Amino acid sequence: MKKEMIVVLDFGGQYNQLIARRVRECNVYCEVHPYNMELEQLKAMDPRGIIFTGGPNSVYGAEAPRCGKELFELGIPILGICYGSQLMAYMLGGKVETAPVSEYGKTEVKVEQPSALFDGVQDDTICWMSHTDYISEAPEGFLVTAHTPVCPVAAMECEGRKLYAVQFHPEVMHTQEGMKMLSNFVYKICGCSGDWKMGSFVEDTIKSLRGKIGDGKVLCALSGGVDSSVAAVLLSRAVGKQLTCVFVDHGLLRKNEGDEVEAVFGPEGAYELNFIRVDARERYYEKLKGVTEPEQKRKIIGAEFIRVFEEEARKIGKVDYLVQGTIYPDVIESGLGKSAVIKSHHNVGGLPDVVDFKEIIEPLRLLFKDEVRKAGLELGIPEYLVYRQPFPGPGLGIRIIGEVTAEKVRIVQEADAIYREEIAKAGLNRGLGQYFAALTNMRSVGVMGDGRTYDYAIALRAVNTSDFMTAEVSELPWNVLGITANRIVNEVKGVNRVLYDLTSKPPGTVEFE
Ligand code: XMP
Repeated sequence: MKKEMIVVLDFGGQYNQLIARRVRECNVYCEVHPYNMELEQLKAMDPRGIIFTGGPNSVYGAEAPRCGKELFELGIPILGICYGSQLMAYMLGGKVETAPVSEYGKTEVKVEQPSALFDGVQDDTICWMSHTDYISEAPEGFLVTAHTPVCPVAAMECEGRKLYAVQFHPEVMHTQEGMKMLSNFVYKICGCSGDWKMGSFVEDTIKSLRGKIGDGKVLCALSGGVDSSVAAVLLSRAVGKQLTCVFVDHGLLRKNEGDEVEAVFGPEGAYELNFIRVDARERYYEKLKGVTEPEQKRKIIGAEFIRVFEEEARKIGKVDYLVQGTIYPDVIESGLGKSAVIKSHHNVGGLPDVVDFKEIIEPLRLLFKDEVRKAGLELGIPEYLVYRQPFPGPGLGIRIIGEVTAEKVRIVQEADAIYREEIAKAGLNRGLGQYFAALTNMRSVGVMGDGRTYDYAIALRAVNTSDFMTAEVSELPWNVLGITANRIVNEVKGVNRVLYDLTSKPPGTVEFE
């Protein structure tokens, strides 16, 4: 049976993948493609429906992205969103103008006509608007189905031709009934039955990976984080022992992390793959000796990682494919290369170009983090791995302010393990964006058992964030902080003071360096 599919045509809007994700939440498979994809290729996909995204252009602009007019004649239902709606109006003979007042943010939309798109939606519904142009006149044959005080055509449709358009963004969560509208589009207008689940993604990906790789060799840099773990398990399911995972223990991992990763992926673990754990601890400490400048530390850690990885790759011999656990937010972040460098992020995304691979495989590049987690659960990866909080590539190296030494790594590892244990005991671990202990470079005087101490201060951090671009400090219960601080001072040798970081991002960053 052919899989149902919706194609999102991308006209440059910032929410393009979010639309796809919302459609997948309706249990219908969805992919994003460029607006100018070949018509034949689009037809070959046999989509049940097409969605045009928004975009920054005006339809009258010389550079305005436009699709071919034939698209409207295929009989495939189309939903135009924002710029996509204006494009539909403009190409089919309606009028688009600069609105007298731009509409941004939550706006009350009045649904004025019954429509399959608005089935079950209230007559007055809050939607998210973000536009300067608007449709001032719908094309002939179209019915205006909704308006706002500013926008005469907030939604329009030509039921006979299965063409629908909305000026607002149903995909963003501020559009209160947006999911209902998208679900109406895919089910009531496109006639989908909802045959897609994360399990189908897993099965389909395994099948297509098998087809692509054949009997080739695959290499994966495994960090133990959720993305690379899910990518590795997918590949292991697809090609078994043709996969080799290289796990570099740079001595900057959390307490017991190396053993935990080995227990899952190593020879005693549940997966069929070749696992290589490289103990590069001494090598890293040596390289980091005397280095205090954060960017320099990051660069050394990143460069050394690549070197270790390359050495292992050469030992394995000719490898055809390199697997990376890139997920969609990584793709956007790398696309934003023009912004100022705050920190040079190192993760396995920047792997070698020196080692000769035929191709890089990124099986998760269309998924958001929570979708990757769902895929992980489908693949039977243990929950504690699937729900791990993010951990930066440079590891504890950027949570130890100043010079990194084996002794400081021990201190921060132990303090962090206690903190995580107490957070988990209090049942807070799933609700927090990220939380960890860092070792400040500050020593201060204390008193313990009638004696003077002169030891380090540990800083605890916990933030709530949805995208890690901004973050708010989590208001942790006082008793959890109190118990943690007590335990750290009592149990971790070399610490006599514990601080809680109250800085949001901005102006702080999540990590300390
Ligand atoms: P910052 O400190 O930039 O962190 O506010 C935002 C998020 O990114 C993580 N982070 C990194 N992740 N390689 C990574 O893979 C890195 O070099 C890196 N630096 C920061 C950080 O843990 C937080 O989740």
